[in-house]
Amino acid sequence: MSEIGSRTVVIIPTYNERENLDIIVGRLRMAVPTADVLIADDNSPDGTGDLADAYAAKDDHVHVMHRAGKQGLGAAYLAGFSWALDQGYDVVVEMDADGSHQPEQLPAMLAALADADLVLGSRWVEGGAVVNWPKSRQFLSRGGNTYTRLALGIPLRDATGGFRAFRSDTLRTLNLAEVESQGYCFQVDLAWRAVRAGLRVVEVAITFVERERGDSKMSRHIVVEALWRVTVWGFEDRTKWLRAGQRKSG
Ligand code: GDD
Ligand code: MN
Repeated sequence: MSEIGSRTVVIIPTYNERENLDIIVGRLRMAVPTADVLIADDNSPDGTGDLADAYAAKDDHVHVMHRAGKQGLGAAYLAGFSWALDQGYDVVVEMDADGSHQPEQLPAMLAALADADLVLGSRWVEGGAVVNWPKSRQFLSRGGNTYTRLALGIPLRDATGGFRAFRSDTLRTLNLAEVESQGYCFQVDLAWRAVRAGLRVVEVAITFVERERGDSKMSRHIVVEALWRVTVWGFEDRTKWLRAGQRKSG
């Protein structure tokens, strides 16, 4: 959505990203100079929050949200979304801090938002790619996405990815107050809500580059949460006719 006057904010959640922060914010400011940036830091022990403050002090496009402690990616984004909606932004972007999402690919995603309500940066569509992932992680992501597609019956190739652009009206219609997902499952949750709401969800090919610095926060707990929730959602969705029928006859 590149209409004149449309204001964009890119939310970058951080937890221990001190080696990555300046590089990614610098690249983003170059690639999309009109966009603002919100760094949502969960009180990183490595001092990422202080670095973010230093950046914000020299660049008034950059804002920082300091959160009390590590509460997961989902909670950080929900807090960021609510700030962005309060501030009146028209477009809200999700992007990782570690360089896996390339800011240089954001203009193409924003352009696609002209005819969409939600644009997903997608590794698993034609033209998409992943660089430097071990086979095991590729297997997990592809498998997770295939499972999600079948369990939920949605046509998306990459529902778990975290590089996305939302119209703010889209966020307003998704009932964010109900979202309980904490980890990466948050991404599936939002995509699923958007599809069910009948919104236009469009995938744009991206090249995901595995981080070179710092550590991934992926854990067994995050994978289990995602599998569990997707399974429950899929089950509820497949059986909703049953419950609807019960309501009618009872
Ligand atoms: N504030 C905050 N709080 N930030 C967090 C937290 C948290 O609890 N956990 C992770 N982050 C931040 C990281 O600092 C990074 O900027 C981003 O979220 C992604 O975390 P990574 O640990 O680098 O994720 P990944 O590379 O394993 O996972 C990527 O792929 C997933 C599966 O496709 C991301 O793109 C995920 O969004 C995606 O779901
Ligand atoms: Mn990463």
